[in-house]
Amino acid sequence: MRGAEVKTICVAGASGLAGSYMVKEALARGYRVNGTMRDISQLDKVSGLMRLPGAAERLHLFSADTANSERFDAAMTQAKAVFIACIPTTKHGVDGTPAAELDRERGLTEIIQPAEQACLNILKAAHRQGVKTAVLCSSTASAEPATPSFEKQEDKDISDAEMQIQQKKYAQAQKTVMEAAAEEFTAQHGMKLCTFLPSMMVGAPLLPSHLKGHVLSFLAKLRHGKTGWHSTVPAGSMSLTSPQDLAKMSLAALDQAEASGRYFAVSGSWSWRRIYQEIAEYVPLEALPAPLGRDPEPPTRFDFSKRDSLGVPIQGIQEMFADFYEAYEQVRLVPQA
Ligand SMILES: NC(=O)c1ccc[n+]([C@@H]2O[C@H](COP(=O)([O-])OP(=O)(O)OC[C@H]3O[C@@H](n4cnc5c(N)ncnc54)[C@H](OP(=O)(O)O)[C@@H]3O)[C@@H](O)[C@H]2O)c1
Repeated sequence: MRGAEVKTICVAGASGLAGSYMVKEALARGYRVNGTMRDISQLDKVSGLMRLPGAAERLHLFSADTANSERFDAAMTQAKAVFIACIPTTKHGVDGTPAAELDRERGLTEIIQPAEQACLNILKAAHRQGVKTAVLCSSTASAEPATPSFEKQEDKDISDAEMQIQQKKYAQAQKTVMEAAAEEFTAQHGMKLCTFLPSMMVGAPLLPSHLKGHVLSFLAKLRHGKTGWHSTVPAGSMSLTSPQDLAKMSLAALDQAEASGRYFAVSGSWSWRRIYQEIAEYVPLEALPAPLGRDPEPPTRFDFSKRDSLGVPIQGIQEMFADFYEAYEQVRLVPQA
């Protein structure tokens, strides 16, 4: 860090895949980090975070649930910025019904409004404590308009929340609605907002919990010859994000006074056929899905000029899979359900 002053930031969701990389990157840059998770008595998560370089001196962890705004106040004290990475995509109603099977009322009250409220609760705590900058980790789900551009642009290609709701895409709509609420709140309260749009995150797990419930858990299962992610290679494509790049971009947005608005946080988009060709380098043949049997659809194209304005070198997708499988071999963690 330039100068003698050590600046503080808050990472809401420090134990998450994205959040832990933000903590790691911020500590490496010399920040004092106040990290939140729901319960700091979860020793596996806390001990993993406290082993990060610089953590013993400059990482402080706080228990805070997004249902209660006031619980975030302590972690925001004297923070220059808050990084919001604690609003995971809800894909089910409260009783476990898949989002796509819910009616409109339940989609709104059980999926969309809780995400919107969670984000506002954090922003309200930030505002109470005088935090001037918010960096929101959202999703490319908010960049899926009915007619996307040939090359998607983050400031032009914005999802229509009402259309997503009508199509029962509540899980996607929660991101679109959350972002709009964050934009309105920060504009009203004179705060700067940068929003990052990641897609499927692949990289080395920093904590054992990152192998539970993430796409990383599927990658681990494939390594052990277990099938079940796809029975046949899908015809479409997937955009991929390195959590390390996402963290570097998020920190760069804090450093750059002119940074604002939405940023794609993806390395690129690959057809699933190409993704499975890459995964095949690391997993036994029997784990792979049946071949597609026809040409894949063209992958999504992005205009990355805004992303690249942050000056962060972006990891290639090949490297992201290599990072995951090399780390997985080293720690030899047992895949979790
Ligand atoms: N992972 C992906 O492939 C992917 C793709 C696109 C977009 N995203 C978006 O990126 C963001 C971060 O994702 P991620 O994969 O890093 O998530 P994650 O690993 O599931 O981490 C979620 C974090 O939020 C905390 N958290 C969960 N529920 C909370 C609550 N009610 N109150 C307070 N904290 C809570 C968790 O803490 P605990 O330790 O308490 O559980 C954890 O620190 C999310 O908005 C997600 O939708 C992720």
